[in-house]
Amino acid sequence: MAQESKQKLWGGRFSKGSAVLLDRFNASIPFDYKLWKYDINGSLAHSFMLHKIGILDSDELESIHQGLKQIALEIENGEFEFKLEDEDIHMAIESALINKIGDVGKKLHTARSRNDQVALDFRLYVKDKIKGLQGRIIELMSVLLDLASRHTESIMPGMTHLQHAQPINFGFHLVCWSENLRRDFKRLQSSYERNDYLPLGVGALAGTPYGNDREFLAKTLGFSAPTLNAMDSVSDRDFALDLLYDIAMLLMHISRFAEELVLWSTCEFGFVSISDSYATGSSIMPQKKNPDVPELLRAKSGRAYGNLISLLTTMKALPFAYNKDTQEDKEVVFNSVENAEISLEILKEVMQTLKINTRAMEQAAKKGHLCATDLADYLVREAKIPFREAHHITGQIVAMAEEKGCDISELSLDEVMSFNDRIKVDVLEVLSLKNSMNARTSLGGTASKNTKDQIEYLKEWIKNVRN
Ligand code: ARG
Repeated sequence: MAQESKQKLWGGRFSKGSAVLLDRFNASIPFDYKLWKYDINGSLAHSFMLHKIGILDSDELESIHQGLKQIALEIENGEFEFKLEDEDIHMAIESALINKIGDVGKKLHTARSRNDQVALDFRLYVKDKIKGLQGRIIELMSVLLDLASRHTESIMPGMTHLQHAQPINFGFHLVCWSENLRRDFKRLQSSYERNDYLPLGVGALAGTPYGNDREFLAKTLGFSAPTLNAMDSVSDRDFALDLLYDIAMLLMHISRFAEELVLWSTCEFGFVSISDSYATGSSIMPQKKNPDVPELLRAKSGRAYGNLISLLTTMKALPFAYNKDTQEDKEVVFNSVENAEISLEILKEVMQTLKINTRAMEQAAKKGHLCATDLADYLVREAKIPFREAHHITGQIVAMAEEKGCDISELSLDEVMSFNDRIKVDVLEVLSLKNSMNARTSLGGTASKNTKDQIEYLKEWIKNVRN
């Protein structure tokens, strides 16, 4: 016969203790101990509510509070023993309370179920973590924008299909990154608001006969309002899925930034150099400096997608209301949250210490005939040639430069003028990278002045969300 573990809080109708293997398989305490603070805060609020509706007298309330606070202190100091046979954080804390204060502790679970309790704890965790991620996003954006402010004149090749396309400045590129992050911030915000409803006080699935004051609970625990329907409150995990999706998107963005850092730090690009403190060496090739950090950042998105798909699949076809399947919601969310937190932190530090090689950027911009569009625009504007024809003539000029192995900006004036007699000396102006960049003044364009406006706008936006 398999070994049996100790009697459970729910063990009244059972004649045998549970198998040790059941404890190992069934327990969530190895991971949901991370919810301890939320569980204690939930219990503090719940006991206040029980006092308010006349279930606990003042002495009982006081004794429960003392007990819970002691438990919190013990956990904080690492003196609390989390035991597998307690099954989950909710029962671990409740058992400890009963051990400490005796029979009064047994009243705490009145008008409450672990189903609404776990729904509450997990929502409190998710709300807390959303705020933390938003703060980290803002910090990263601030670093990117400070860097951008210093590089609104630093010309680099803007690319499409990873081929040189038109000259832009490095600051403009960083504003593009920042906009991705701003959407991530807003996405988290809307997830927060959509899910800011209190599930506690609905009991197992159908409500309670005690007249729970859920408005009071919502206010005490900082929710916008209580949930409307008891069954929905205990079965819904949309709040966790919303966060998993938000993080998948955030880490997808970060993987794109990371890919650019990997590319830019190759010998072929040489646009940036990652600080020694954030790079690693090779165990065999002494000359190497590897971009492990951006590579790992690039990989984290994979896990985040997996976590999202994992929980979506767990939730699919679950009958209403609570099912134990949902216990599997926590590890994936913890994993995504912790990866997102450290990713944002380390990317911020990498960017703070990144060396920018503006010379290499500018040299690169001199390859690939980046001013070709400007030349075609010149033919349209100054020589009154229809755009299609101008495009064709410019193509021929590019072909000549290719043949000579130079950039169109390096052809002589005579050579350029030989293609059409309406081309004048002032064509040289449009063949300058700087002029080309600064000509792009349409709203959102790359001209240094426009880039500065965009940076200012975002800095102002940050100031507003910080307040
Ligand atoms: N550990 C459980 C979970 O994470 C808590 C809820 C258990 N409820 C129940 N009726 N067995 O989902």
